[in-house]
Amino acid sequence: MSLSIVILAAGKGTRMKSATCKVMHKLAGKPLVEHVINTAKGLEPSNLNVVTGNGAEQVRPLLVSKDVTEVMQHEQLGTGHAVMQATAQFANSSQVLVLYGDVPLTQLSTLQQLIGSGDVDSLRILTTKLADPTGYGRIVRNEAGEVVCITEQKDADAKTLTIHEVNSGIMVLPAKWLADSVAKLTNNNAQGEYYLTDMVSLAVAEGMAINTICCQDNAEVAGVNTRQQLAELERHYQLLQANELMTNGVTLADPSRIDIRGQLNMGTDITIDVNVIFEGKVTLANNVEIGANCIIKDATIGQGTIILANSMIDSSIVGSNVNIGPFARLRPGTVLADHAKIGNFVETKNANIGKGSKVNHLSYIGDTEMGQDVNIGAGTITCNYDGANKHRTIIGDRAFIGSDSQLVAPVTVEEGATIGAGTTLRKSALADALTLTKSVQKTVQGWKRPVKVKK
Ligand code: UD1
Ligand code: CA
Repeated sequence: MSLSIVILAAGKGTRMKSATCKVMHKLAGKPLVEHVINTAKGLEPSNLNVVTGNGAEQVRPLLVSKDVTEVMQHEQLGTGHAVMQATAQFANSSQVLVLYGDVPLTQLSTLQQLIGSGDVDSLRILTTKLADPTGYGRIVRNEAGEVVCITEQKDADAKTLTIHEVNSGIMVLPAKWLADSVAKLTNNNAQGEYYLTDMVSLAVAEGMAINTICCQDNAEVAGVNTRQQLAELERHYQLLQANELMTNGVTLADPSRIDIRGQLNMGTDITIDVNVIFEGKVTLANNVEIGANCIIKDATIGQGTIILANSMIDSSIVGSNVNIGPFARLRPGTVLADHAKIGNFVETKNANIGKGSKVNHLSYIGDTEMGQDVNIGAGTITCNYDGANKHRTIIGDRAFIGSDSQLVAPVTVEEGATIGAGTTLRKSALADALTLTKSVQKTVQGWKRPVKVKK
């Protein structure tokens, strides 16, 4: 029972008022159509096709990266016409699932249920009941409750418009029948389009079995046509994720003020304050605490680590019982060992910071190899860039760097070395010795401060 999937994504998306084609607008950090592709892949279809047209060149790189077949629909003559373009793709399959590129939140389990709701030769439609069905195709049934046809809003009479059960657009059809019958569609309707929905009345005329699954959660079948709908679905999706976190033992200060744009792996007894954003792949071990307004991307955070408010962490690995922030910025390639401490207004990049080492205030540590129990004074800068190349700074265990020092890389501070405050270090500092660059203090007697000139 091989399954082909056709995702329709050629439409214009006029109401988005955007240079970006509709299906490439992002929900939880991923293009709408990528959500659909990912769910579709969960069904392990024998082939997966996306029908493109408007903005095809914007969608193409994603389809290539996802190893999905692109089917071009040069003119957008309707959903039936769109499926017709893919006929050759499903020639060897037994059934075809049609999905929409702008309906991102359908669950895999719902699609499995739909596919399983009838045998391979039946037509299966995913429907839902809406309080306000305006704009949707209505599911028209006879007195026995059997589906008779789907009537589009623009073609419906007053009585049909009162029907609340609507077509999600998502359907499973027998492949051979679809390939043979799709050519019978006409565009004799209010929009002058070839409607896929008209396959239903064709099926009824041929006495085919028709099954429907009525989806309880409207969001699963909600399409994005406007930016308002995109924002609504985003909040809905984020709330689902927040609920799942809480179910799994995470405390959220406010479940409506967290955004997960990617994949989050969590331990338990984690506490997250408001307005925290997670991007990419993030792993948090048990007992991690995250303060307000943090942005954490592609990072692993060890057990018991505390991240204070307004910190940003990108592509970094953080050990356990580390303290970060407030206002810290960990840039890519930062690795913090257990019990390290990164304080306010500290920026790190490509830096290994050893166990128990502290960079507490106002520093830049880049391209650095730092040992254990190092103390970096306020305002220390690793001068890692000479205008052309980057160089490394090596700091041994137990080194102490006085405040306002510059370490001009490549340079080494040996184990246990002490650097006097305000030093500009250009050569190695020897182990267990004090190194400083002396500037002579002078006093100018009788000196007067400038006074403001009156105009
Ligand atoms: C469609 C259904 C309607 C259903 C609604 C659910 C038809 C005729 N109507 O209406 O019953 O209630 O979806 O959201 O199918 N597309 C193409 N090529 C085209 C036209 C559309 O690829 O030539 C794609 C669009 O990009 C979109 C999807 O098909 O992803 C649906 O098209 P749209 O024009 O939005 O259909 P609706 O009028 O919303
Ligand atoms: Ca639509």
